[in-house]
Amino acid sequence: MRTINFHNKVIIITGASFGIGRELALQFAEQGAWLVLAARNIEKLEELVKECQQRGGRALAVPTDLSEESQCKMLIEASVKKFGRIDVLINNAGMALASRFENLEDLTLYEKTIKVNFLGGVYCTHYALPYLKESSGRIVAVSSLRGIFASGTADGYPASKHAMAGFYDSLRNELWDRGVSVTVIYPGWVSTGITARTLNPDGTPKGEISRHEKKAMSVDKCASMILKATARRKREVIMTFMGKFGRWLRLAFPRWVDGMSRKKTK
Ligand SMILES: NC(=O)c1ccc[n+]([C@@H]2O[C@H](COP(=O)([O-])OP(=O)(O)OC[C@H]3O[C@@H](n4cnc5c(N)ncnc54)[C@H](OP(=O)(O)O)[C@@H]3O)[C@@H](O)[C@H]2O)c1
Repeated sequence: MRTINFHNKVIIITGASFGIGRELALQFAEQGAWLVLAARNIEKLEELVKECQQRGGRALAVPTDLSEESQCKMLIEASVKKFGRIDVLINNAGMALASRFENLEDLTLYEKTIKVNFLGGVYCTHYALPYLKESSGRIVAVSSLRGIFASGTADGYPASKHAMAGFYDSLRNELWDRGVSVTVIYPGWVSTGITARTLNPDGTPKGEISRHEKKAMSVDKCASMILKATARRKREVIMTFMGKFGRWLRLAFPRWVDGMSRKKTK
């Protein structure tokens, strides 16, 4: 299959200040891409701009809170103002909340999770779509295995990731004759520090990396798989064998798969 090089391609990455988004920026920069880096932490973004430039890319940092539609609109406007086009939109930003539903005292955190993980991507896609149609561009959404399987607890994270699948799979159908591809990525555990940033029911970060993450896929491997999938306009990537196999297993043995989800959440 023909793959493309991202030299001089304009790529917006949300959630670029840490983890998968940061590593994606560095790997695209090595190919000479023009990057727009979005997140709230401007210091981290400014450092990343310099690193991308050192690796051969061009980069612009745009401080953005993805939960605000107006800020997503400004992100797209700033991208077009700086680089004149958009070739790839990577909706990667995410936050994780770990709580039993019954332990949530107020629903603000639940709402915030849906906004950042799901609606932020919808807002960016809405404002970027006219430019992506012009460039026959690519939309990439970073979901999670928890967007395919039920979790052991009903916090906002699995709901936000299941919503992503419904939106992006339908959008792919809607755009099939418009030249814009839609790729959904389903990572398993990736070693980024996300578990330390995961929020408790009271909104405080857990502050400690979980044992699952210590045995996880490396962030550079995850980013390079996303790069390849973006280049090849793949429909989706399920990153682990158990993720791929579990989908089929669930059809035959749904109760057994539910039991596995409960065990994993513990
Ligand atoms: N790591 C894993 O094990 C794993 C597994 C499956 C799926 N995923 C998914 O992969 C994506 C990236 O995860 P990661 O591990 O790289 O997470 P991470 O290291 O915690 O990074 C999350 C990124 O999202 C940004 N973000 C959070 N809230 C935001 C907001 N309100 N507005 C703008 N940006 C915001 C953060 O930047 P600021 O704080 O600077 O805003 C940060 O850059 C997420 O969608 C996550 O759900 C991760």
